[in-house]
Amino acid sequence: MSVATQRREAALAVAVPVVERLAAQALLQEIAELKRARNAVVLAHNYQAPLIYHGVADFTGDSLALAQQAARSEADVIVMAGVVFMAETAKLLNPGRTVLQPSMAAGCSLAESVGAADVRALRARHPGVPVVSYVNTSAEVKAESDICCTSANALRVVESLGVPRVIFLPDRYLGHHVQQQTGVELVLWEGACEVHQRFSGPQLRGMRRELPDLHIVAHPECPPDVLAEADFVGSTQGMVDYLASRHPGHVALITECSMSDNVAAEFPDIRFTRPCNLCPHMRRITLEGIRDALRDGRHEIVLSESVVVPARRALERMLAVGRA
Ligand code: 13P
Ligand code: SF4
Repeated sequence: MSVATQRREAALAVAVPVVERLAAQALLQEIAELKRARNAVVLAHNYQAPLIYHGVADFTGDSLALAQQAARSEADVIVMAGVVFMAETAKLLNPGRTVLQPSMAAGCSLAESVGAADVRALRARHPGVPVVSYVNTSAEVKAESDICCTSANALRVVESLGVPRVIFLPDRYLGHHVQQQTGVELVLWEGACEVHQRFSGPQLRGMRRELPDLHIVAHPECPPDVLAEADFVGSTQGMVDYLASRHPGHVALITECSMSDNVAAEFPDIRFTRPCNLCPHMRRITLEGIRDALRDGRHEIVLSESVVVPARRALERMLAVGRA
């Protein structure tokens, strides 16, 4: 057994109950064979269920890492175990590959909060002000934008433009968080993540009272009173890197709750307290869906050429800025 396979089996054993693992064995095997036959890779977001994250993913990470990995992939087929905007981003950055999305119903409340016409209206209201779009947007919105960003590089992207004012969309909370750290004025859109907006400052203060040794690590899509309570704020990969470098003894990851299940295997000495908000869209990706995607070549991401060229430009400008 290779070292990678041993590591995967060990992580699966920690993250997934034995009954569930045994029940999934045949499907995991079928997916492994289909990946080999199709020369395919599975890219999985950090919020995927542990069986997908540890059992079938060739690469895991935050939105920025998945975009970077998709851009350099030489596989014939990329299966995105994530939401639709992540699959579109992969296709935009590597249009020669077949990109498959196991469930086209795996949307995102942020991506759905703003359309291309809204961006055009904002530009008309603020002439000459550049548009920075979070990657949690449709390809059509990216096509109307000057540059994209993720939660891992939003501040750096905003400041890279060298202008006094930018339009920042669609997440008002990420925008507010960036605004706290820069002299650039951000014109915000009223979008929010349906998962992160449910956390609250009083909830975290209550947790701190009950658990005085707790380290609070939060995603910047959370409201400002939540971020004010956090010991660290960062992208999902930023959270993992923080745990790896600081090794706090007791942690609450204030984000989608599969994250804790996934990373607990990597950090056996850290105790995780898990306030659990699940993303219903991420949950639409299943092992069966990944198997069907590989077996039947569905659902292939196809984007119109008029969108591809400007949207790719906005994404490539972001990749040139890199991670903060
Ligand atoms: P990350 O880029 O931090 O992984 O976040 C993506 C996301 O959808 C968070 O809700
Ligand atoms: Fe979108 Fe929120 Fe789900 Fe992330 S957690 S994919 S921002 S709805």
